[in-house]
Amino acid sequence: MTGPEMVNGFTGEHLAGQPPHIRELLDRRAKVLGPGYQLFYTNPVEVRRGSGVHLYDSAGNEYLDAYNNVVSLGHCHPAVVEAVTRQLSILTTNTRYLRADLLDFSERLLATFPAELDRVTYTCTGSEANDLALRIARAHTGNTGVIVTRNAYHGVTAEVAAFSPSLGPTSPLGPHVRTISAPDPLRHGAEVVTMLRAEIRAAVDDLQRHGFGVCALVVDSIFSSDGVQPFPTDLLGVLAAEVRAAGGVYLADEVQAGFGRTGAGWWGFGRHEVVPDLVTLGKPMGNGIPVAATVLRHEIGREFGRNVRYFNTFGGSDVPIAAAAAVLGTIDREGLIDNAREIGAHLARGFAEIASGHPRLADVRGAGLFLGIEVTVPDGTDPDRALAQSLVDDLREHFVLVSASGPDGNVIKIRPPLVFNDADAALLLERFADAAARVLPT
Ligand SMILES: Cc1ncc(COP(=O)(O)O)c(C=O)c1O
Repeated sequence: MTGPEMVNGFTGEHLAGQPPHIRELLDRRAKVLGPGYQLFYTNPVEVRRGSGVHLYDSAGNEYLDAYNNVVSLGHCHPAVVEAVTRQLSILTTNTRYLRADLLDFSERLLATFPAELDRVTYTCTGSEANDLALRIARAHTGNTGVIVTRNAYHGVTAEVAAFSPSLGPTSPLGPHVRTISAPDPLRHGAEVVTMLRAEIRAAVDDLQRHGFGVCALVVDSIFSSDGVQPFPTDLLGVLAAEVRAAGGVYLADEVQAGFGRTGAGWWGFGRHEVVPDLVTLGKPMGNGIPVAATVLRHEIGREFGRNVRYFNTFGGSDVPIAAAAAVLGTIDREGLIDNAREIGAHLARGFAEIASGHPRLADVRGAGLFLGIEVTVPDGTDPDRALAQSLVDDLREHFVLVSASGPDGNVIKIRPPLVFNDADAALLLERFADAAARVLPT
């Protein structure tokens, strides 16, 4: 296999050891799918169906899915199945018609945000939402410079890939892009805010010096691809203030952290007590139906609205909006934000207890149902990517799905559907303890 490797990606190295039906699928896949795709795990998982927090393969094995944040209500949630099925049989149009359903949902969605964030534009993917947010920010600021964290991921369009450094050196950053460190309290200690304030000031100066000016600071509110960094919570306000003082805006990317996952309200930025200028949403918004959005302060969108006509065929169309309304309603009705907070705290305690017996698990951190467990070398904080991968693979062989993240691929990333319950958490902790006992050196 050629090209840049992703964290926890199938490399082809173990091709010979795969069962015949997996080899056949791999072969067919190579013959028809376009370039750039990658599979998870050293031994890829073939999935046939999903239900709740479980995935099933063709042999009927049941996997505990502790990773999928798209289906945040669980796989095939009946409320979404019903809403989408019903909508498909009633109407499928777009934003060029007057539709009460679109307005009902938009009002409900905006009510979950601070009052300043009072407009929403719909797209189909998180990448498109970020792409649009950038165009709006450019029109508003008149500048082009973008600041992101060192291993950020924000999407796949040409524009957005240019500020997604986690895609690696073969996807070059734009000349107008500067990176700063993500917070890393394990390694930066208490100096993290001071250090990052200095870094963002240097990035601002450099963008101005090169004539780009400062358009936007774009931050994933949970620093997911930077290794899941929920702390410190006084950082984002400081960074936003620096960027605003230079004429730029702060765009909170909530594609991963949003819709209650962090267990502290609807949006990840809420934990940081800062109100962004623009917010992008995606992944869990439709529980599997592509629907995403850019939320903004109306004054930030004024210049874009004066000069640009925006139409996105499927963005804001009836079926995705029906799915999104079902998701929003279910999160509310089933108390899933509280569940994320409570089960997440229980998991964090359980993982910390397991880590206390394994020095190679150097840190357990998380917010709600978004957790990271740092795997390091003995007697130090240097990352151990291979050991993290062994843990992920061992869990997969024992029917538990998690993944890894971070610039060094050494952070176990745990991000189950929000409907994870006590029994699911107990099983995850039990299997994780067993895997740690098998894989980690004592
Ligand atoms: C933080 C973040 N932003 C944006 C995106 C892009 O979203 P999509 O894949 O829907 O285009 C992703 C996808 O993984 C993401 O993790």
